[in-house]
Amino acid sequence: MPQRRRRETGVSTLDRFFCSCPRGLEAALAAELGELGVGGVEEVPGGVAFTGGWADCYRVNLMSRIASRVLWRVGSARYRDEHDIYRAAIDLPWNTWFDVEQTLRVDVSAIRSPVRSLEFVTLRVKDAVCDRFRAETGSRPSVDTTDPDARVQAFLTDRDVTFYLDTSGEALFKRGARREVTNAPLRENLAAGILRLTGWRPDEPLVDPMCGGGTFLSEAAQMALGLAPGAGRRFGFERLAVFDTDLWKRTRAAAMTVPEGRPKPMLYGSDIDPAAIEATRANLEAAGVLDFVELRRVDALELVPPATPGVMIANPPYGERMGDTERLRAFYPLLGDRLKKAWPGWRAYLFSADMELAKRIGLKASRRTPLFNGPLECRLFEYKVVAGTNRGTAFAEQASPGS
Ligand SMILES: C[S@@+](CC[C@H](N)C(=O)[O-])C[C@H]1O[C@@H](n2cnc3c(N)ncnc32)[C@H](O)[C@@H]1O
Repeated sequence: MPQRRRRETGVSTLDRFFCSCPRGLEAALAAELGELGVGGVEEVPGGVAFTGGWADCYRVNLMSRIASRVLWRVGSARYRDEHDIYRAAIDLPWNTWFDVEQTLRVDVSAIRSPVRSLEFVTLRVKDAVCDRFRAETGSRPSVDTTDPDARVQAFLTDRDVTFYLDTSGEALFKRGARREVTNAPLRENLAAGILRLTGWRPDEPLVDPMCGGGTFLSEAAQMALGLAPGAGRRFGFERLAVFDTDLWKRTRAAAMTVPEGRPKPMLYGSDIDPAAIEATRANLEAAGVLDFVELRRVDALELVPPATPGVMIANPPYGERMGDTERLRAFYPLLGDRLKKAWPGWRAYLFSADMELAKRIGLKASRRTPLFNGPLECRLFEYKVVAGTNRGTAFAEQASPGS
C-alpha cells in the first residue's frame, strides 16, 4: 500500500479544475457549481471549468449530480507534433502527485488536433510519465486500464495540449448503490440534469409514467431529501499523493449536514412492464429512497395523474427494430391525446432520440433542448398542457391490474 502523505507540489493553493458532463448540460452544470460555491466558472462544450482549492474539488465530487468527472489541470503547452506532447508531459513532476508503486492509465481526447493517431499520443504520454518517474525514482509505475490508482488525461486542441489528473476515479454517475438494469436506463447525471432543465421543485408532484429502472425518480428523491450523490462511494483523489485526509473529513462532514424540516416529496412512478417496476423498487431501495416514491404497474395511456398538477417526465421507448418503430409511431399520437385529455395544467417533458416524436405527438412543444445521451443526439421536448376541466383523482386510487 503506497504511503499517503501530502507533498510539496509546487502548485498554488488555487487550482483550475474541469468538470466534464453530458453535452447539452453545460449551463445546468455551471448553475449547479455556482450553488456549490465555487468560483471562476466557465462553460465550454462538454463541461465547465472552475477555480478553487482542494476543498472545492472534494465538495464538487461529493455533491455534483451533473458532472461526470472532476479533472485537476496540472499543465499545458503549445505543440505541433507528438514529440512536443512527449516533451510537455515529461516536464511535469508526476512523481509528486502519485507514487511509483501505484498504477496508471492514460486517456487522450482531441478536437481538431492535427495528430494522426490518438492511440500513438496515448502511448507517448504514458512513456513520458514513466520516463519521468524512472529519472526521479529509478523505476516506473505499471499500467492498469481497469482500476488504476492514477488516471492521466490529455486533451488536445489544434495547437494546445492540456494535462489533467482525474480526481473522481470511477465516473461520478456511478453513485455507489447497486443498480438493477432494465431497458436502456439513463445515466444518473443525465437524468439529474434533465430534472434540473424541467425546473421541477421538490414541493411539486413529479410523475414518471414510463419509469424503466427508475433513474428520474431516484435522482429526484435524493435531490428533494438533500442527499449527497457521492455519499456511498470512494474517489480518485483519495489515492493521490496530494490527498489531505483531514480536509476531506471536514469538507465531507460540512457538505453532508442536511437542513431539517424538508417537505416529503410527491414522487410517482409507473410502467407497463412488471419487471421495470421491480427494478425501480430495487434501485430506490438501494439508494435508500423507496419510502418516498409511489409505484404502480399501469399503462401510461391509462394513468390518471395526481390531483395537484406538477411535472411529468418520461423517456419513452424508442425502437431499433422495424416492428418497434411501427408500434411507436402508433403510440405517440395516443400519448399526445392522453396528455390533452387527462393532464391539463401539467408541464410534460419527453426525452427522446426519436425526432418523429415531435411530429407525431400532436402537441406543440414550448421548448426543445438538444442533449446528448453518450453519442446519441436527443431532444428534451417541453409541453405545457393547457388547463381544462378534467381533474385527476389520487394516484393510488386507480385500478392497477396485475400490480
Ligand atoms: C427507455 S425505458 C425508460 C428508462 C428509464 N428512464 C430509466 O432510466 O431506467 C422506457 C420504458 O417505457 C416503458 N413503456 C413502454 N410502453 C409503455 C406504456 N404504454 N406505458 C407505460 N410504460 C411503457 C417500458 O416498459 C420501459 O421500461
